[in-house]
Amino acid sequence: MHLFDLVIYGGTGDLSRKKLLPALYAGFVSGRVDPVSRIFLTTRSAPDEDVLPWLADVLAANGDDVSADDQKLQQFAAMVSIVPLSLTDKEDDGWKWLVETLQSCADRPIIHFLAIPPSVFTSVCAALSHHQLNTDRCRIVLEKPLGHDLASAREINADVACHFDESQTFRIDHYLGKEAVQNLLALRFSNILFERLWNNQTIDHVQISIAEDLGLAGRGGYYEGVGALRDMVQNHLLQLLCLVAMEPPARMDAESIREEKLKVLKSLSNITNETIKTDVVRGQYSAGTVAGQQVDGYCEDMNLDGNSNTETYVAIKTFVENWRWAGVPFYLRTGKRLPDRFAEIMIQFKDVPHSSSPDWQYHNRPNRFIIRLQPVDHLALRMMVKNSAEGQADLKEVELNLDVSDPNRLGPYLRLIFAVAEGDQSLFVHREEVEYAWRWVDGIISKWDYFNITPVEYPAGSWGPYEAHDLLRSDGRAWFHEKRG
Ligand code: BG6
Repeated sequence: MHLFDLVIYGGTGDLSRKKLLPALYAGFVSGRVDPVSRIFLTTRSAPDEDVLPWLADVLAANGDDVSADDQKLQQFAAMVSIVPLSLTDKEDDGWKWLVETLQSCADRPIIHFLAIPPSVFTSVCAALSHHQLNTDRCRIVLEKPLGHDLASAREINADVACHFDESQTFRIDHYLGKEAVQNLLALRFSNILFERLWNNQTIDHVQISIAEDLGLAGRGGYYEGVGALRDMVQNHLLQLLCLVAMEPPARMDAESIREEKLKVLKSLSNITNETIKTDVVRGQYSAGTVAGQQVDGYCEDMNLDGNSNTETYVAIKTFVENWRWAGVPFYLRTGKRLPDRFAEIMIQFKDVPHSSSPDWQYHNRPNRFIIRLQPVDHLALRMMVKNSAEGQADLKEVELNLDVSDPNRLGPYLRLIFAVAEGDQSLFVHREEVEYAWRWVDGIISKWDYFNITPVEYPAGSWGPYEAHDLLRSDGRAWFHEKRG
């Protein structure tokens, strides 16, 4: 059972309502969160309602079957306080109340979760240190976006470092909290079978895809001018790439894991003036049909009058330039308003070097190892076997399934909050990782700007721009996207 005091700055905002409070409630109901833990939600002005009906609404809007009469919800609500607080004024009375209340229980870690725009990180950190809320038992959690380029990320990291040690700083990438990602590490580093095959001798290429069927209605303020490259690639996709490509760490501790991930980021091939047009595709959805529903294009969704150069889709081919991965393309893609929601890593092995039968040659498909992160946690190995129903030399592809879904699994945010409470940084992103990832992404953005590369359109409900298919087709490959169960 986990005991902590958690202060969520931006406590009544989107992230808190949609992800953090539902995760904490699930943790409480399943008996993993100690009921004497306390949750403080800071807000500029208190909501009109009491905590209980407000929480009931928040959780119900997220799909929880709750009402204000539920005993469990009442117990949970008793742990939650709403704290009116001006984040930019360190003399605000709310700070005084918070300090006294937090100091009244010295038996637990204090987690400061910054679910606020990075423009206020500095003033909150300064206020926390002014009120001595940065002592050893305090930890600070930074939610993305951590800047919009290398320079701003460096500035944020430097500002935070004035008040909190790196060992107290937890930069969240919620993809690292997903169950299948944990399993990827377990599978890679505790089975000899995979390690022997995990290199350019056997692997043909790697695809990492995060597809979303949702558009951007409702997230206007944040997304416009940010786009898919900064929103998804700089963090989630590059972190997944690191976990696939990294060397086995000497130990499964934060420092060793982060060192190996950092080496991958440093080895990524840079997109050049030549490859920006061939190896990167920038797209934006136009009106179309998703799941039988007619939907608007990006500009209408965002109520933009004119054009926008914000990409909602990006596909990239890159390489990890080291001995293990030399010559193996890593294809990354992410997009909004695609036909389906899924996140998946697909590792495609090379063809067999020689086929003993012409029929086999005809039917043979390369082995594939698939790590599905959502909608279900799933590891699968695609292999060829004999198709007994057909002619003698006929083959069929079967899937060896490792069902790793666990009804008691923790959601990503709950797992990450527990890790913060325990002071375990292995699932968090080090300052240097953030900066190297930005350096690589900045290289792409500067070339988009220099060559005036604007997004190409793709109809909502399609699998992205035609150019993204060409990216693989010109290499004799194709995106792996079948209907998922
Ligand atoms: C967030 C992005 O980090 O991840 C969103 O800001 C995106 O744009 C979300 O929708 C996807 O997360 P998940 O866990 O739903 O795949």
